[in-house]
Amino acid sequence: MFDSPADVSARLAAASYLSDDSIATSVYLAAALGKPLLAEGPAGVGKTQLAKAVAEATGATLIRLQCYEGLDEARALYEWNYKKQLLRIQATSTDEDIFGEEFLLERPLLKAIRASGPTVLLIDEMDKADVEVEGLLLELLSDFQVTIPELGTIAAVRRPYVVLTSNATRELSEALKRRCLYLHIAYPTPERERDIVLSQVPSIRADLAEQLARTVATLRALELKKAPSVAETVDWARTLLALGREELDEETVSATLGVVLKHNSDHVRAVKELGL
Ligand SMILES: Nc1ncnc2c1ncn2[C@@H]1O[C@H](COP(=O)(O)OP(=O)(O)OP(=O)(O)O)[C@@H](O)[C@H]1O
Ligand SMILES: [Mg+2]
Repeated sequence: MFDSPADVSARLAAASYLSDDSIATSVYLAAALGKPLLAEGPAGVGKTQLAKAVAEATGATLIRLQCYEGLDEARALYEWNYKKQLLRIQATSTDEDIFGEEFLLERPLLKAIRASGPTVLLIDEMDKADVEVEGLLLELLSDFQVTIPELGTIAAVRRPYVVLTSNATRELSEALKRRCLYLHIAYPTPERERDIVLSQVPSIRADLAEQLARTVATLRALELKKAPSVAETVDWARTLLALGREELDEETVSATLGVVLKHNSDHVRAVKELGL
C-alpha cells in the first residue's frame, strides 16, 4: 500500500493532509502489519480527516461507521429485511429459507468486509458508542471476519485498512486496544499548523497564517475550558479572508475571537491574558 513512512507523508500531503513523523510511521506500520489504527486525541486535530486522506491517497473507497450512544449490531453490521421476509412468507406457502443473502441488509462493517476493491473502514468516535459495540468489533478487528448465525462466518474478501478514532471521553477496552496500533495525535507545532492553514486556505498570506498559528498556540497554553482545534484555526483563517483583514492585530483578534473560543469564560480569560 505504501513503500515507507516518507511515501505516506508525500501521498497524504498530495491529499491535502499534513502529517508528522509519528503519524506517517503509524499509518505505514498499520498498512505493513495489516493492523487497525486507533487514532486518539483532542477534538479537531485531524483524526477523521486522516482516514479520509488515506482513502484518497490510496484510491480506496471510504466506508464510515459513525458511532453514537445506542449504536447496535443492526446499524453497525447487518440487519434482516423483515418486511421483505414477511412478504415472502405471505406470498409463498412453502417453507422457503428467508434467511438468505437476498434478505440481508448490509451495514458499514459487513459492507467493508465484503468489499472486493481497496477499502478504508473508518470507525469514527468509538468512545461515543456503548462498550458492547467493542465486543462486536473484536472478531472483525483481529480476524477480519464476521459471523452471522444464520449464514455462518464471512471472511474478508480483501482486508480493509481500518482506522478507529476516539476523543478519549472514556477508556476503550484493553481487548480492543490490543488489536490495534495506537497513535496519539496531539495539537500540531505552530510550523505544521501554519502549513495546514496554507494547504486548506491557499489564498491566505504565509505570514498571516504563521501569526494565526502562533496566536492559537498561545491560546492553547492558557488551559482553557475548550482549547481551539486545528479546524478552528482553519476557520479563523477563512474568517480573516472573508472580512478582508490583512493583519491579526488586537482589534481583529477581539472582533473574531468567537471563531476559536466557544465558551464565555474562555473568552474572558483570553481577553485578559492577551491584554486585548
Ligand atoms: N494534518 C492536517 N492536515 C490538513 N488538515 C487538517 C489536519 N489536521 C486537521 N486538519 C483540518 O481540521 C479539520 C478537522 O479535522 P477532523 O475533523 O479530522 O478532526 P477530528 O480530530 O476528527 O475532530 P473530532 O474529534 O471533533 O471529530 C479538517 O477538516 C481539516 O481541515
Ligand atoms: Mg472526527
